Amino acid sequence: MKDAALDNLIIDDQKAGIFRVNRRAFVENEYLDRELARVFGKCWIYAGHESEISQAGDFRSRRVAGRPLILVRGDDGVVRVLFNTCTHRGSLVCRQPRGNARSFQCPYHAWTFNCRGDLIGVPGESSYSDAFDRAELALGRPARMDSYRGFIFVSFDRAAPGLSDYLAGAKEYLDLVCDQSETGMKISEGAQAYSIRANWKLLVENSIDGYHGLPTHQRYFTFLTDSGVDLRGGLDSPHQKALDLGNGHAVIEYLSPFGRPIARWVPSFGELAKARIEEKQRRLEERFGAERAFRIAQTGRNLLIFPNLIINDIMAITVRTFFPISPDYMEVNAWNLGPAEEDLEDSGLRLDNFLTFLGPGGFATPDDVEMLEACQRGFANREVQWSDISRGMLRQHPSISDELQIRTFWRRWHELLTAPQLRRARKAA
Ligand code: FES
Ligand SMILES: [Fe+2]
Repeated sequence: MKDAALDNLIIDDQKAGIFRVNRRAFVENEYLDRELARVFGKCWIYAGHESEISQAGDFRSRRVAGRPLILVRGDDGVVRVLFNTCTHRGSLVCRQPRGNARSFQCPYHAWTFNCRGDLIGVPGESSYSDAFDRAELALGRPARMDSYRGFIFVSFDRAAPGLSDYLAGAKEYLDLVCDQSETGMKISEGAQAYSIRANWKLLVENSIDGYHGLPTHQRYFTFLTDSGVDLRGGLDSPHQKALDLGNGHAVIEYLSPFGRPIARWVPSFGELAKARIEEKQRRLEERFGAERAFRIAQTGRNLLIFPNLIINDIMAITVRTFFPISPDYMEVNAWNLGPAEEDLEDSGLRLDNFLTFLGPGGFATPDDVEMLEACQRGFANREVQWSDISRGMLRQHPSISDELQIRTFWRRWHELLTAPQLRRARKAA
């Protein structure tokens, strides 16, 4: 990419309060190539949750940043992330999405790897010379792997900062999610997998956009009001805030207008649930004090962990990642997260919330998908060059109805795409 193509990508006029993104960023292949190298190839990228592989031998295979990976818990209890490609001649060694295995046998010529990734079986091994070394033919691994409170991340950049430093202010918000459980959070079986004919960054914007709800999801809000939920006040309360959490991460937090299985009762949960949910609030107060318990239970948050992990802790908790396949097409995966100890009734409420609002069969996701695809179609008018993301830019305390959180993403994205030190490093190499 010529450096000139990197000029004029963003207008960030902090004096005038104008922020714009050039729509080339959503449509042109050259930016995608650069994103793959500088964003997905450098940052810490969410790969999965430890609860998905809780027993020795449990595995999940999935594509992360275009790479087929296996997340597996070894016979030693250690979680590893392995490249799902045979070190012989390349085949995927695991073609199942999930399961429990003692080993992975490549379907092509039957090389076999154990759950630690070691090569343990080579048919016809006597045909190889003495230089043939099983040890160097173990399954490969991403340069870095680490986890924070059960969330497993990988980085393909050996020089990436530590995960804890990378997560910066986002850790506090992950804590607010994870502290909802006394025994650990758990991803439910099953996933929502869908695709959108739109640029992946449009879903970043949408997932932390605090003011599209009323126009875009009108039907859902009518449904909630009809079922007795009081939507007034939540989004404008003093508890609401929008924050830049560092390294491109951002959050909006607000008094929840929705019912939350932990621990905000609404009439649609039914009278029977009331005492149970109030008891949870009491337990939270015991563990964390009234103020933090209130925040955990009564406020919701939409958290972006740069570049593509969304944790929306709203009426349920969705963990969502998505990857670009082409500039105008992305694949999305989303999972339901909840306290491992939650009883069947409350996890039933949670799953009902998860499916009612979120996901391809919910009230919200189809609306959002439609809007994102409509934006992408609109971008065909190449004469109209800029998208405007200026809302609330000169406010001292931006609200969740402003766009600070979206600008936070774009500023980091722009920084990574244009960083001169990367260009210098490449020249020196
Ligand atoms: S490619 Fe895996 S054994 Fe040949
Ligand atoms: Fe939405």
